Amino acid sequence: MQADQEQEILRAATRLVHGELVAFPTETVYGLGADAENPQAVAKIYQAKGRPSNHPVIVHVAPDADLSYWATDIPEEAHQLIKAFWPGPLTLILQRASHIPDTVSGGQSSVGIRCPSHPVAQALLRQFARLKPSGQGGVAAPSANKFGQVSPTLAEHVISEFPEEVAKGMPVLEGGAANIGIESTIVDLSRIGQGVGAVLLRPGHVSASQIGQVLGYAPKLPDSHAPRASGTLKAHYAPRTPLMLVSAQELAAGKLQHRVPAGKKWAVCVFDAGQQPHTEGIDWFEVSNEPVQYAHDLYAFLRRVDQLGYQRICIQSLPEDQRWEAVNDRLQRAAAAFPR
Ligand code: TXA
Ligand code: MG
Repeated sequence: MQADQEQEILRAATRLVHGELVAFPTETVYGLGADAENPQAVAKIYQAKGRPSNHPVIVHVAPDADLSYWATDIPEEAHQLIKAFWPGPLTLILQRASHIPDTVSGGQSSVGIRCPSHPVAQALLRQFARLKPSGQGGVAAPSANKFGQVSPTLAEHVISEFPEEVAKGMPVLEGGAANIGIESTIVDLSRIGQGVGAVLLRPGHVSASQIGQVLGYAPKLPDSHAPRASGTLKAHYAPRTPLMLVSAQELAAGKLQHRVPAGKKWAVCVFDAGQQPHTEGIDWFEVSNEPVQYAHDLYAFLRRVDQLGYQRICIQSLPEDQRWEAVNDRLQRAAAAFPR
């Protein structure tokens, strides 16, 4: 790490200690962080995002953090998953330690914890922990976007979304394009003690089958007793331009152009833009036909197309395949914000 970057990280960690916000990169998406043990600081996250204050946020910790400082009744499953996937794009929901403020847990008895692999995130978390009297530092951070909007995968996304905070001196640590591009997988282990096994609250880069292999059983899908997760609201992750999924059959039938109102333009995203005929009212965009690359590109792509003034964004439906589960989840939610 270069000296000026180290200086910037020290400045950011110092601001966290003083109860201010800091935006930082992770391998999934950029986060908007505050000292997890300072309820006033965490309240600033909700205020900046315009997010309802009963939604819990994830606590980010450094690789050498003491998990028992943050969580209690830690089940064996947690240790197994941590060994397999940390540092990395996996958040675990555990029973919270009593000093964790209600603003972090959304008033629930659980806490979400994640150890990111991004070197800048780790450097920030280590530096912050060093500055805390207890030697333990956790950074509460949701994705650094306004509530319900597309998550940021570049520092410039954060800067454009929070101009007021940046003008007031909020650091936005530079970390390049987020490697993974979609939010972490969330697994709830908080009810293991009550005989409820692992529950997959949000699919992500770490897949349900990988988790199943480690645990020896497939994680369940949430029931009505599972803890709330805002990323699991039906309409979420949406661009401003109405977004709609279209099947390959619908595209092949060539009917889409008849639906474009006169004088309007639709952006249509397909796996093979080069094969598409020139069509009045439609601009074709090509998206990757490989799920990991697709996830990496998705949010930056949506933000870019969102600014081009199309009346609608149409996206070719994804294969109904386990490998596509996480991006499928995000696209379904984005489309749900705009009923057809
Ligand atoms: O990849 C990520 O997870 C990114 C980066 C910044 O780490 N963060 C992120 O945060 O996506 P956010 O707040 O946008 O989504 C976190 C999700 C929300 O759906 C929240 O409800 C859920 O985690 N969550 C956090 N703590 C929870 C808890 N105690 N119980 C249930 N869900 C929880
Ligand atoms: Mg989010």
